[in-house]
Amino acid sequence: MATAISTPNIAFIKYWGNRNNPLRLPMADSLSMTLSEPSVEITIDHADTLKIQSSTMGEDREVTGKHLDRFQKVIDLAKEYLGTLGIDDALPGELSIRIDSHIPPAVGLASSAAVFSCLARAIAALITEKKELTDEQVSIIARLGSGSAARSVMGGFVALEAGEGASIDAAKAVQIADENHWLLHDIVVIPSREEKKVGSTEGHALAATSPYFAARIQAIRTRRQQECIDSILEKDFEKLQRVSEEDALDMHHVMETSNPPLKYLSQETHRIVGEVKALRETKHLPVLFTMDAGPTVHLVCTDEATEEVRAFASAQKGCTIFESQVGPGARGK
Ligand code: DP6
Repeated sequence: MATAISTPNIAFIKYWGNRNNPLRLPMADSLSMTLSEPSVEITIDHADTLKIQSSTMGEDREVTGKHLDRFQKVIDLAKEYLGTLGIDDALPGELSIRIDSHIPPAVGLASSAAVFSCLARAIAALITEKKELTDEQVSIIARLGSGSAARSVMGGFVALEAGEGASIDAAKAVQIADENHWLLHDIVVIPSREEKKVGSTEGHALAATSPYFAARIQAIRTRRQQECIDSILEKDFEKLQRVSEEDALDMHHVMETSNPPLKYLSQETHRIVGEVKALRETKHLPVLFTMDAGPTVHLVCTDEATEEVRAFASAQKGCTIFESQVGPGARGK
């Protein structure tokens, strides 16, 4: 039996589009900050058939249909990957999985990133007598469940390197700086608690239908990813703000011009973004905005800006607010 705990992350350079969908091999690198909360805890053990028990915020949830299939696929692919490491028999039968999530549903905090990074860490702990996996190897298992989950395996600031070729281990996460490097906060403004209609997995498969997709990949490969890494290493907030906002808006442009178009941002999102821009101009606040596949606005700021950003967030009518900061990533328990 093995237990692990993990959390979501928020991306500054977004992962959107794969070169191989079943293996989640991304077209370009991405980069995120691992969050300190909310957390997911997973306990796994050997079993004869796949069994999943799940509870979200204390409420039991049945895992069926495509959700169950997704877990089965990850376990099968994880076995295939462990085979390439010479430990084919490390996960012999099936697994019983108990998931305890403290992530409120449909708030725009990627629960799949927390769940699959947590599952990967738990698998690593379960097989530790056969082989001690490195963080990078754990990130490969996490990626097989959800691309962005690879980044939550480590703490602080983490890149998912796309790599090259079609092998199962071609893309992996690397830590740029740990959670003690730079204290940044993520104040999350949630205008709507509706479940999104098109999930990320379906969205990735549409990315290449946008006429702007190729230019986006080119920009990340030639410039943005490196600028983002530099901004973090130099703790240059203005640089981080420029490159991450450019990339987030570019990703949404690709989404909105794909076929069929994916419109994740709402009028409320645009209003909040407009007001954040005005606030930072008048008060010279180190705060940046970024949005994933939903209307939720993440306001990432430095420690000294937290109070003013929190006040701004609380003043948003009809919005739920959630607060987090840079965190340590998936770990055994
Ligand atoms: C917009 O990792 O959620 O949040 O591999 O299908 O689970 P799957 O996709 P996912 O994609 C993340 C999309 C994003 C950007 C990001 O977090 O980098």
